[in-house]
Amino acid sequence: MTDPLARLTPVVRLAPAKLNLTLAVLGRRRDGFHDLHSVMVPLALADRLSLAVAPPERGASDSLHVEGFDAGPPADNLVLRAVGEARLAVGGDWPGGPGPVPPLSLRLEKRIPVAAGLGGGSSDAAAALDGALEAWGAELDTGRRTAVAAWLGSDVPFFLDGGAALIEGRGERVQRLRGVLGNPGVLLVTPSAALPTSAVFKAFADRAGRGDGSVRMTSEHLAGEVGAGLRGPDLIARAGVLAAANDLLPAATAELPGLVPFRRALFRVLGRPVGLSGSGPTLWTLYPSEDDAATAAGAVREAVAAGALPSLGDGEPAILATTIPEGPPR
Ligand code: C5P
Repeated sequence: MTDPLARLTPVVRLAPAKLNLTLAVLGRRRDGFHDLHSVMVPLALADRLSLAVAPPERGASDSLHVEGFDAGPPADNLVLRAVGEARLAVGGDWPGGPGPVPPLSLRLEKRIPVAAGLGGGSSDAAAALDGALEAWGAELDTGRRTAVAAWLGSDVPFFLDGGAALIEGRGERVQRLRGVLGNPGVLLVTPSAALPTSAVFKAFADRAGRGDGSVRMTSEHLAGEVGAGLRGPDLIARAGVLAAANDLLPAATAELPGLVPFRRALFRVLGRPVGLSGSGPTLWTLYPSEDDAATAAGAVREAVAAGALPSLGDGEPAILATTIPEGPPR
């Protein structure tokens, strides 16, 4: 007889944050989404998701427990939707079939700030999709996995297989790039003010509706460089150009005007170009190493304590030092 506990050994997945090194918005599509051209890299900063097949006496539905940053009610979490969509896609086609796959008991440690432009929720969803399949011993071919991922959210396909990538379409076209070499450091400062992605894209559509073309040129150039493998020092040498290579920046500051003085004050404290990740409100600066980023994080904490950064939102900003890892997440 097989040991029933063996089935309860959880599957564990790290769900990394992402950074948009460039983000060109090409225009609005008929479906209301926008076509993008973006070079994205995963970060070492990651949520941790564990998934276990729930013992039958626990009831018939999936359950999710969340720790760390407040991600709102677990019932609304994209992780549970991802497991639901994975269940539908698998149907009876799994080793214990032809019946449906069993419910899962999930545990999520949120280490990535929520709704911050760092892709945490999308990454959790990709980890949930992939982890659920492994927990059930089920398989979906790449096309179906990508379709389910794209259905869950625009950023989800990027996270499915990991690594740096050029993102096109609304996010569903993912072309893997060799990546950034040498583990440069990244400082992330996330104001506690809410800035929903949909509101930023709406403000973008109401204003220009498309970028001015220069961000796209930067993005295409960077995609070539990251495709060949871009060394950390060469990335840092481009920080000034990259900090301006986000077509959503004017829309984000229109939605959250306090971001302008906040970013300016951060530049004064750090003396380095400060970029916006995705639709924000997270701001980033680049460093030669994670240690250097950690030193800079200390300087920002001191500035916050001294009142040298304007307050934005209803709490203190999240200040995190991380790296762009050369290899897969550990
Ligand atoms: O796909 P996701 O749920 O992450 O997108 C959130 C919102 O951001 C969408 O409802 C849409 O308004 C906007 N969006 C967009 N074009 C994209 C991605 C997102 O307009 N490529």
